[in-house]
Amino acid sequence: MNPDVSQLPPLENDLKRVFGSNATIAPLTSTERLGRRVAGIDLTEPLTPSQAALLVALVDWHRIVSFPTQDTHGFSVGHLEQVANHFGAPLPHPHNYANYVGHAAGDLLELHPIEERTSTLVDQAFPGSIMSLDGADSPAVYIVTNLVGSGPTVEPEVRGGQHWHTDIEFEPAPLSTSLFYVQRTPTTRNSSRGTWVDNPPREPGFYHPDSSATLSELREALPLNAETAYADTAAAFAALPEQERRMLEKVMVRRRLRVTDGGWMVPLVYTNPRSGVRSLHSPVWASRGRRVAPVEVDGMGSDESRRFLDRLEEHCLQPEFRYDHVHTPGDVTIWNNFATLHTAPPSKPIVNHPDDARLLYRISCKGDPSYELPRSDTDKWIAANISPPYRTPPQIPRVKHHGR
Ligand SMILES: [Fe+2]
Repeated sequence: MNPDVSQLPPLENDLKRVFGSNATIAPLTSTERLGRRVAGIDLTEPLTPSQAALLVALVDWHRIVSFPTQDTHGFSVGHLEQVANHFGAPLPHPHNYANYVGHAAGDLLELHPIEERTSTLVDQAFPGSIMSLDGADSPAVYIVTNLVGSGPTVEPEVRGGQHWHTDIEFEPAPLSTSLFYVQRTPTTRNSSRGTWVDNPPREPGFYHPDSSATLSELREALPLNAETAYADTAAAFAALPEQERRMLEKVMVRRRLRVTDGGWMVPLVYTNPRSGVRSLHSPVWASRGRRVAPVEVDGMGSDESRRFLDRLEEHCLQPEFRYDHVHTPGDVTIWNNFATLHTAPPSKPIVNHPDDARLLYRISCKGDPSYELPRSDTDKWIAANISPPYRTPPQIPRVKHHGR
């Protein structure tokens, strides 16, 4: 069975039954294909098993689900980690550890001292104007911000947009789900080209020089500052001719972190174990630029693999499968990493005005959903798949917050 992504189960009816009559759901895009906005839900409240199961099903079927105005409920980053645990086991971010780079097996990893933590440095940029939220110091939280090193007297900087990619698809258990909570996004616009920040020229080798002109143009059509662009690899797969889908379902690819790794083979087409929806995961030859070894298609050399995957990337990046999500303060946005690609816009990594501030909190998860908490991941599974080993403690800060 290969359910068409447009044949949705009646989740809309379930939403009001499970969350109450105030809950509403609406498409994020005019095509109604990718993404939903679910309003009238308070995510600071613990979820019942049936509520958690419905949220997981919404992300399974719609790939991206955004929950606006959570700030009005006093949402904190601890609440985000609580929600994240229903989707998978949170993966700590290496950035949060003082000695992660170069550490040897058996070393005890230590978090940065308080005065060096990102949350502390965020608070120092525009004191009294922007303060990070409770729960931001959790090892599982990656603070996406341009406030570190920023302040009223510094010279702003500009950084180019990213490659299209899927986060951590190169580990044996890839990331399943990512969650954002949005506290601040830039509000100033550079009017000269209608974009918020101009994209600086790419350095040589950013993309392989043999990419087609069409693919290059699609890649370089970057989202605007304060946005994340997504490509829907489930709808893109469903739109291919049946014969091609059948061929792709047999394709295996080699995943690995470094070129020197042996890696392992996985199917290019991912089948969601709950919905049965199939998607391309992740059809980008040089995912994450130079930092991760290029993908090899089973039976093909490097150049042939690139040409094969470039054609699929070009298919997925077509406007009909793409959605540029505008992040709005107060949003919780959850996306399925098995069925999407994403990219980030050019942005200012250093700013001298709070209107340019970007402050979002991201938690990424692995493994199966859990409709009840705490999760029951075994120590063996955690040791094999969550590095460094981590479980959300029972008492994470979930103070109702009204930060600015
Ligand atoms: Fe990413």
